[in-house]
Amino acid sequence: MIPQNSPRARRLAGPLISIFAIALILSGAPGAWADAARPAVAARPAVAHKGAVASAYPLASQAGQEILAAGGNAFDAAVAVAAALAVVEPSSSGVGGGGFFLLHRQSDGFETMVDAREKAPGAATRDMYLDKAGNETKGSTDGPISAAIPGEPAAFEYLARKYGKLPLKQSLQPAIRLAREGFPLYLRLQFAIKAKREILARSPDAAKAFLTADGNAPEVGAIIRQPELANTLEAMATQGARGFYEGRVAEQLVAGVRAGGGIWTLADLKNYRVVERKPLVGEYHGARIVTAPPPSSGGIAVLDSLNILAGFDFHDVDSATRKHLIVESMRRAYRDRAIFLGDPDFIKMPLQQLMSVDYAAGQRSSIRADKAMPSDLLPGIESEPKGMNTTHFSVLDAAGNRAAVTITVNLFFGNGYMPTGTGVLLNNEMDDFSAKAGAPNAFGLIGNTANSIAPNKRSLSSMSPTFVETPKGLMIIGSPGGSTIISQVLLGVLNYVDGMTAADIVKYPHYHHQYMPDEIGYEPGALTDAEIARLQSIGHKLRPSTRQWGNMQVVTWDFASGKVDAASDPRGEGEGLVY
Ligand code: DON
Repeated sequence: MIPQNSPRARRLAGPLISIFAIALILSGAPGAWADAARPAVAARPAVAHKGAVASAYPLASQAGQEILAAGGNAFDAAVAVAAALAVVEPSSSGVGGGGFFLLHRQSDGFETMVDAREKAPGAATRDMYLDKAGNETKGSTDGPISAAIPGEPAAFEYLARKYGKLPLKQSLQPAIRLAREGFPLYLRLQFAIKAKREILARSPDAAKAFLTADGNAPEVGAIIRQPELANTLEAMATQGARGFYEGRVAEQLVAGVRAGGGIWTLADLKNYRVVERKPLVGEYHGARIVTAPPPSSGGIAVLDSLNILAGFDFHDVDSATRKHLIVESMRRAYRDRAIFLGDPDFIKMPLQQLMSVDYAAGQRSSIRADKAMPSDLLPGIESEPKGMNTTHFSVLDAAGNRAAVTITVNLFFGNGYMPTGTGVLLNNEMDDFSAKAGAPNAFGLIGNTANSIAPNKRSLSSMSPTFVETPKGLMIIGSPGGSTIISQVLLGVLNYVDGMTAADIVKYPHYHHQYMPDEIGYEPGALTDAEIARLQSIGHKLRPSTRQWGNMQVVTWDFASGKVDAASDPRGEGEGLVY
């Protein structure tokens, strides 16, 4: 179970340990190799005066605003936005899925992450997605067998009870209304329905909710009503999480999953609990970064990259070299992700080492400004960034409380299966496990035994909800985008520290490197011709993406002026509202 003990990990850890040794030797050295300065962040103003919500769809941002206006705090609003997204953006997240709720309470500075990541069913086994010959089956993404036990409903009750001011029943009202009365279909959701039409058509309840009678995607503007989902949300409003994990809804979920070949039991649902985890905290050029701990891999990877980059002086380098150095930091951080990370309740991880500035100095020492390092020379375990499923939102309330929430059902509409009578779309989060060491998942990400399947285990995630606080202000940030979430958040942090506005941060063109495949993916406009020529000349392989990726939602608060901004990625159809 413990990755460091496997022969493969020992083989892989060799270079890591020697890099670490070099780091120790170098850590006293001045100049470029010195640790990043660690100034304390200035005392923060007590209140923001304004609340703000940025989410992937206006109706969800409005649900958050409604709850803030009714006297709710950022945590009540987080419940309202997540529940509304389950209704109006069912392709990306939902009560059949899970995610991470990163919270900051302003009155005492308390910070926590409510880990509502889905868990493998009790009957899950390490090789459940391998055939007799040891080859991967499609089971980890297709049909109810790919579904892990949902965490989002448990998070709703937990947030409302422990951190909110309003009863759960009230925070769920906007979502219940949207599910019952319906909302007009919009282009991006229509695109997702078209992409998953065949899968949705296989599940009669999903087809009824999202397809026309002849099995096609409805027209933009058609009203999407989900009465069964409204009933399920009502059950949660009146009974709390038990309305989902026990009783009628639970019985229908288990019956549906098992009828479709899945392995859920009533006990799996009844035993699901969220876990509070201490967020990871790092610093970069005077900014305090608060981010998601494992089972997210994103926080570690972002901090590791920032630690590497802290030793470079970006002011004296041209833009191509700057991008090269950032890419090299991504390469190294994604490699560590693949080797070491998994569910903290199941494995031991060298987190302190991976987050240490000395380790980063060692990583940095292997980076040349004039040459790409082939990933093969960084031994490890592979690869293609994907789509626009998953969703992130950022909330700030007038008291200064914050929530950064990234939630998901994994691929568009999860596995597309809706157990009869529940209105709940099942996730396919089991694909985020490493079904076989070294074999890429839907996002091309590889992993090893640290992220192998075990009963009740949480799969490793890239979701990276993050707070950044500088003496000047703060930012609440996150994005969907599978494996690219981490590099997007990294670029967002760097851009914020460089003084970019929320509106510019969300529209910034992305580039990405995830160690394997050994190439830089980039959106149209992310690299100039001169940068492309330079990056190729120093050994990088480039892969232009014809599609854009991500749907970043950012809230910023400038302490001096008191200005609060909420910006939604123009790649999507979201809305940032300042209230
Ligand atoms: O937790 C994860 O890393 C994935 N299930 C996230 C999937 C995702 O972001 C899909 N969006 N493009």
